[in-house]
Order: sequence, then structure tokens, then C-alpha cells
Amino acid sequence: MVPATGGSACPVWHHQMRDFYLEPAYHHAADRWAVEDGIELENYASATREDDNKQDRILILYASEMGTAEGLARRAARQLQRFRPKVMALDEYNTDTITSEKLLLVVTSTFGNGEIPGNGKKFLEWLKKQPAGSLDGLNYSVLGIGSTVYEHFCAAGVAVDKALAKAGANCIVPLHKGDEIKGQADTFKQWLGLVSRVLGEDATSADATAANTPKLNVTFLSEAEAANVSPLEVSRDRGIEVPVVANRELLKEVIPGSRSTRYIVFNISGTDLQYETGDHVAVYPCNPPELVNRLCERLGVTSNTYFTAQYITPDGTEMEDKPPVAVPTTVNQVLSEELDLALREPFNDLLTYLHSA
Ligand SMILES: Cc1cc2nc3c(=O)[nH]c(=O)nc-3n(C[C@H](O)[C@H](O)[C@H](O)COP(=O)(O)O)c2cc1C
Repeated sequence: MVPATGGSACPVWHHQMRDFYLEPAYHHAADRWAVEDGIELENYASATREDDNKQDRILILYASEMGTAEGLARRAARQLQRFRPKVMALDEYNTDTITSEKLLLVVTSTFGNGEIPGNGKKFLEWLKKQPAGSLDGLNYSVLGIGSTVYEHFCAAGVAVDKALAKAGANCIVPLHKGDEIKGQADTFKQWLGLVSRVLGEDATSADATAANTPKLNVTFLSEAEAANVSPLEVSRDRGIEVPVVANRELLKEVIPGSRSTRYIVFNISGTDLQYETGDHVAVYPCNPPELVNRLCERLGVTSNTYFTAQYITPDGTEMEDKPPVAVPTTVNQVLSEELDLALREPFNDLLTYLHSA
């Protein structure tokens, strides 16, 4: 049986489909059936029943090495603002009070050889030692993020989920695994959507978003204000500029629909760079200047304009959350180096607010 719209939208998948690629393909999207099948939210609804001895807010804990999991945890908190969420790293949390929590959401990435990031190690060690039944009455859900490039995909998320279940905590939405190279934003939305439904609202619906979610507020600086901004700090870790001699697609031509794998050659003859076989290289690509200029024209802003931004709650209070880019900065810096303009979705917010500021 051949699924009408490809494997990702339909649970029917015959193993003989393995070597065929249907067009249009949905390889970029998370496998919806893999996360939603078998979830019966009604069974979990009791999780949100009022209990006088519990905190009246939800707790969101993250473990993150480079900030992605933290960013997602904070985004979840913004969307679940109505439940007055508290967000912190796993290791910052005082575990003595865990049984008074109503709902614990955990967002963790995976590092090293399938390990939890540094700011979650202590918590996980503690959690694994908790006797069965000791976390009875604690509701939880885990979002693991990672990459299927690595052997132990989302191993930290799996470990936290298992340890919570073993200690008797009650899972309200099954573990979701966000794949960096395939639909992580989708998986995050699905996970948060299900959590919201268990909590009795749809955080992804337009109404809930408009009413409860803090807004990103962008303010352009005047020339006088911009003159006082210290020049953008360029970290020494940012590397050096070298000419690209070759940049060729390897895999997509051979396997249509597969992810991109490129052969890139740099000319490092004018530098003192050294490398050995097996070394890694980090590439900081920029968006093409013509595209940046076109976008500035459409947004009606000049590219060297400085702006600042902060999240504001519906009642007008400034939030501690950092905006998605370090501010103050210039429109050009953000559009050239900070945003991947080929990946529109994660930055819709910022583009909308730049346009409306
Ligand atoms: C050195 C290194 C090791 C990683 N190891 C794993 C791994 O074992 N399993 C996995 O699923 N992802 C692994 N990842 C992918 C990260 O989990 C992924 O990039 C994640 O989005 C990072 O989130 P963070 O910014 O919150 O730390 C690894 C990434 C790096 C750079």
C-alpha cells in the first residue's frame, strides 16, 4: 500500500518504500505519526485536576550546552504564560521542593557520547537515585532535542523521561524527540500543543497567542543613541575569513530528497591555520548581500540602522527573557549573519516586528 502523501503524513509505510522517494517529499518535517500515534489526551486530563497542596504555577527546567534547549524552554514559557511558569536550568532547581510541583516540563539536549549537558548532570544523577514511588503525584513531560547524525539520538531526554517514570512521576504527554536536522520546530510545536491541550487550552491557537503571549517589541535607535553604542563585539572564536574555492552538492544529486551534504574547499594559504585529518571546522555562512538588501527594501528599513528589542507581557511589563538576537545591533548584522534567511519560520516574529516598528 502506498501512502498518498508520503511516509511522514501517513502511518502506513511499507518496508519496500525504503528505496523510493515520493515527490513532493516531506523529509524536512517531523514524522507526525511517530509522535502523535497512540496518545489519548483524555487519559491524561486528570493530571491537571486542582490539588491544594501543589504550586499553582508550572515548572520548566532545561539542560542546554549551546542555548537551543534553553531557548525552547523559554519559548514554551512565553506561550504558557497563563500558568505563570518558572524557568531555570535543571541543576539550578532545589530538588527538595519537587513533590510540591504540579507540573514539570523538561527540555534537554544531548551532548558528548549521548550525555546530558553540564547544567543537567547533577539533577539526572539525583533523579536516578530516587526510589520507585517517591515522585508519585508529580506530572511531567520531556522534550528531548538532538540530532540523528549522532548514534545516541536524544539519549539525555530518554534518560530523564525513564528516570522520572521509574520514580513514579506521571507522564502527561509522552517524550518527544526534536531532530536538529529534521523538523525540530515542528516537534516542539506538537509537544507544546499537546501539553497545552492537557492543560485545557490550545497555546498554538491564534486567540491564546494573542491574549497571553508576550510580544517582542522592537525599537529603532536615533542617530544620537546609535552613536553611543559600542561597536559590535566580534568574538575571537568567530574565526577568520578565507576564500571558498569549491562548494559542491554531493548527496542530493545521488539520492533525491536526501539532506544536503556539501564538498567545500577553502584556501587557507594566506593564514597560519593548521589541521589534522579528523579535525572539525565550523563554518559561519552569511546571507547574500543582494537578498539582505531586498529584504530591507521590503521592510522599509535602512540596513545600518541600530535597534533594540525586548519581550513585553500583555500587561506592559518587560520580561527578563533575552530577545532572539543580542541587542543593540544593526538590521544588517541580523539579516546577514544571525538569521538563516532560507529558514523563514523561526524568525517570523522578528521580521514581523522589524516591519511594524
Ligand atoms: C559535540 C556534540 C555532540 C553531540 N552529541 C549528540 C548525541 O549524542 N545525541 C544527540 O541526539 N545529539 C547530539 N548532539 C546534537 C545536539 O544535541 C544538538 O545540536 C542540540 O540542538 C544542541 O542543543 P543546545 O544548544 O541546547 O545544547 C551533539 C552536538 C555536538 C556539537
